[in-house]
Amino acid sequence: MKLLVLNGPNLNFLGIREKGIYGTETYESLVSMMEDKARREGHELEVCQSNSEGDLIDKLQEAYHSGVEGIIINPGAFTHYSYAIRDALASLEIPKIEVHISNVHKREEFRHVSVTAPVCTGQIVGLGLLGYVLAMDYLTAPRN
Ligand code: DQA
Repeated sequence: MKLLVLNGPNLNFLGIREKGIYGTETYESLVSMMEDKARREGHELEVCQSNSEGDLIDKLQEAYHSGVEGIIINPGAFTHYSYAIRDALASLEIPKIEVHISNVHKREEFRHVSVTAPVCTGQIVGLGLLGYVLAMDYLTAPRN
């Protein structure tokens, strides 16, 4: 399968930012973990991160043109207010899993709302980096 992992703002700061919340693993280790898993399981994977809303939307539109078959997205803080990212996700009819490393429901109230989750297939929150692994397992599971 052809898969895309898309990470939003500040996720490149994993291992640096708020370690008590996001852990000590770096962004680079997340990328290698996902790339190794995809290679082992025979999938084609691109992993991207951007701090810019427009870049994330461009990447989602590019996914349409390049025939990506499944998306794992952590929109970071854009989750809570970006109708533009929501619209970009809504235009893609492929499976899309929203992942949050932290349990957003245990945190500030503004994090309890996701404007993007309703246009995704499902959401995984609070399981750390394992959430990305489980999302890939879902996307690549055999379907009838
Ligand atoms: C996050 C949760 C968001 O509220 C926050 O803005 C992030 C990371 C997570 O993975 O837990 O940047 O998406």
